[in-house]
Amino acid sequence: MIETNKIFNRAYLEIGKLWEKYEVLSNFAKLPKDLELVNFNTNKLPVTEKLLNFNSNLNSSTKDLHNAIKDLTYYVNWEPGYGEEDVGKDFLNKYGFFELIGPTGHFQTSEMALYVNYLDQNTHYPLHNHEAEELYFVLSGEAKFESENEEPEILTSTKTRFHKSYQQHAITTSDQQVLSIVIWKNKFENISKIVKK
Ligand SMILES: [Fe+2]
Repeated sequence: MIETNKIFNRAYLEIGKLWEKYEVLSNFAKLPKDLELVNFNTNKLPVTEKLLNFNSNLNSSTKDLHNAIKDLTYYVNWEPGYGEEDVGKDFLNKYGFFELIGPTGHFQTSEMALYVNYLDQNTHYPLHNHEAEELYFVLSGEAKFESENEEPEILTSTKTRFHKSYQQHAITTSDQQVLSIVIWKNKFENISKIVKK
């Protein structure tokens, strides 16, 4: 248990450093201090191990957090987010997230939520939306972000994308996988839903 605490606390510490370095994060949401690790639930998905092989093209600004997250992969509660009926089986082999900080996260707070989000290469995460306002911060890799009424943009490490409440958005990868942190604020009780065509 002590070792597990150490691994989680390293990730939390690295997130704190990122908050100090990037105003775009601290301007979006305050990172609660001194949170305690309370949720030790674990769940594995296909991406649990895919993340372990994500070692190339790391950016020096985000490498320490990337590696801290990799070290967490067997200790966290990976979630598929959607059912096969909504996204298909292939997508569920290529996508997963876990709530590191938040109302039901490993570190718990009701002030905001911080998810770690993994999307494999050559994957399309279809249009979806949710009530919470959202900020994506890419740690490693790259992906194309598309959202309602906005120009698409390819994001690489340290780049961000904001999604308004209920604004529809989609993410597509090509030859690279992408690891991001995703911050939710204001009304994060309602989950994300795929937009039905
Ligand atoms: Fe979203």
